[in-house]
Amino acid sequence: MFKFFDKFRPSKQLLKEIDPNNVPKHVGIIMDGNGRWAKKRGLPRSAGHRAGAQVLRRITEFAEGIGVKYITAYAFSTENWKRPKAEVDALMDLLLEYLKDKEQLAGKRVIIRVIGDRSALSDEINREIDVVEEYTRGREGLTLYLAINYGGRQEIVQAMKKLSEGIREGSVAPEDLTEDMISERIYTDEVPDVDLIIRPSGELRLSNFLLWQSAYSEFWFSDINWPDFSNRDFTRAILDYQNRNRRFGA
Ligand code: IPE
Ligand code: IPE
Ligand code: MG
Repeated sequence: MFKFFDKFRPSKQLLKEIDPNNVPKHVGIIMDGNGRWAKKRGLPRSAGHRAGAQVLRRITEFAEGIGVKYITAYAFSTENWKRPKAEVDALMDLLLEYLKDKEQLAGKRVIIRVIGDRSALSDEINREIDVVEEYTRGREGLTLYLAINYGGRQEIVQAMKKLSEGIREGSVAPEDLTEDMISERIYTDEVPDVDLIIRPSGELRLSNFLLWQSAYSEFWFSDINWPDFSNRDFTRAILDYQNRNRRFGA
């Protein structure tokens, strides 16, 4: 399972500290800092995105090995269209390349699902998403939700649109609306709320990620840029999480 370079590998001692009964089921990752990572090395930003994509593959496999069931990885936000066209194009090209190369995208025990507003993605990307989802569907292991053209607010709006249809048709009465009805209509309807959100790169904000699902999430921030994020860093996040006292208001 741990066939990675030493610099990425957590020590056996550190791994032993993980309580297998208290592993977060659902981890959210805001994969940030790719651009800064590349800049530091005098490389184009796209090189940072490429390096970041490789880290996601390594981290999902590692997380699967320690018992995480779901990862939601923020790959492209509804706000990221504001970036220069060349960068957006490079990101979409990289996405397409990864979707086509299924082995590069995910390990054998990883099921891929895409969440977000797919209507703005090209036909070719949409086709490849369908192929990859179908290809990995029957697998056992960890489900990786790739958030592409995802925004937490957009997600809630699309859930409200679905609910409004029910109201218009008369199958739902406005006074009967519940939190569960929204939870059942967001993209992650089949998944428990996110237990732990990891954001590398030193930024301390959500940037429109999993707004509904993060009501009681734990947060873990680090200054490391995503392309440098190691399995050891992930292990530390899990251990910190296990030392928290989640009260849920009680
Ligand atoms: C995260 O890295 C990847 C995307 C948002 C697509 P950034 O591109 O935001 O990298 P920084 O934050 O500029 O370093
Ligand atoms: C959040 O990172 C989006 C992704 C990682 C895909 P950004 O780099 O876009 O967020 P801000 O602009 O720093 O808040
Ligand atoms: Mg950023």
